[in-house]
Amino acid sequence: MTVPLDLPRLSVHDLLCTSALSPTDLEHVFATSRALKAARTVHTEVLRHKRLAMIFEKDSLRTRFTFDIGMQDLGGSAVFMDHRDARLGSRESVKDMAKNLERWVHGIVARTFKHKALEELAQHAGIPVINGLSDFVHPCQALADFFTLTEKWGQLRGRTLCYVGDGNNTCHALIHTAVKLGVHIRVCSPEGYEPNARVVNEAMRTAQEHGSEVTILNDPDAAAEGVDAIYTDVWASMGQEDEIEERNGIFAAYQVDEEMLARARPGALFMHCLPAHRGWEVTQEVMDGPQSVVYDIAENRLHVQKAVMALLMR
Ligand code: CP
Ligand code: NVA
Repeated sequence: MTVPLDLPRLSVHDLLCTSALSPTDLEHVFATSRALKAARTVHTEVLRHKRLAMIFEKDSLRTRFTFDIGMQDLGGSAVFMDHRDARLGSRESVKDMAKNLERWVHGIVARTFKHKALEELAQHAGIPVINGLSDFVHPCQALADFFTLTEKWGQLRGRTLCYVGDGNNTCHALIHTAVKLGVHIRVCSPEGYEPNARVVNEAMRTAQEHGSEVTILNDPDAAAEGVDAIYTDVWASMGQEDEIEERNGIFAAYQVDEEMLARARPGALFMHCLPAHRGWEVTQEVMDGPQSVVYDIAENRLHVQKAVMALLMR
């Protein structure tokens, strides 16, 4: 039997950045994720016969599978467009792409290099545009990360999450989301690889409103002291393959190992968006150890993105 879903309106039309979501929006996304996760696949009425365009300029396992399967679970379908050979806007303008797609489908998820391409899509398409990862942010990832933490901890407010590594798209999305949820966020990166200064300054202002703190540091020995969770991501993101060797040297002291995890609170969680490189940003012992929740997060990508699509596209 289908249990009707309560689908409140979000304050946004698109999901480009979690910084645009209000704390109430975040509560709605988490509540809907919980309901969909509990119900599994019985909600095929929510997006029945609706279509999602998936345009990817980069590789993906989790994002691609979970959006496609998510649409099927909600009664709709997805059409994948492999855009790895050319950037959006190279064959025709992003505006024209948006103006065509809006005639055929009910939503777009795009994984792009330039965040600007997503903003342009959203500007010209009358249908919701969801960011499946840009060079700037990874909002769906952060939603799944914090949803997983609600499952593990219940209350998030007052907890401390420590991100160790490159101040990249995943890191920016975690900062944006943590401050809205009253979670303290500590970011530890090598000098020159800190998160974007504008993201940090804006987050510091938002944090004051919501009772959270943002701390940026460079000392990997101090980073994990007493935190509730440690998060890391690859040292070189997609598009930075030329820098891998140089970065492996620079980031070596920032590897999450058992010694670092032992400085955190007992039972602290280890998080990673995946794909992970054992022996580089994280040791095998931590990645496959009892404190790791990486596959729970990966599962939750499905439930959270179903919630996002249901809330934006119904
Ligand atoms: N974490 C994540 O977005 O994974 P994919 O790159 O496989 O989609
Ligand atoms: N920072 C990584 C995240 C992959 C999900 C990248 O952009 O490649």
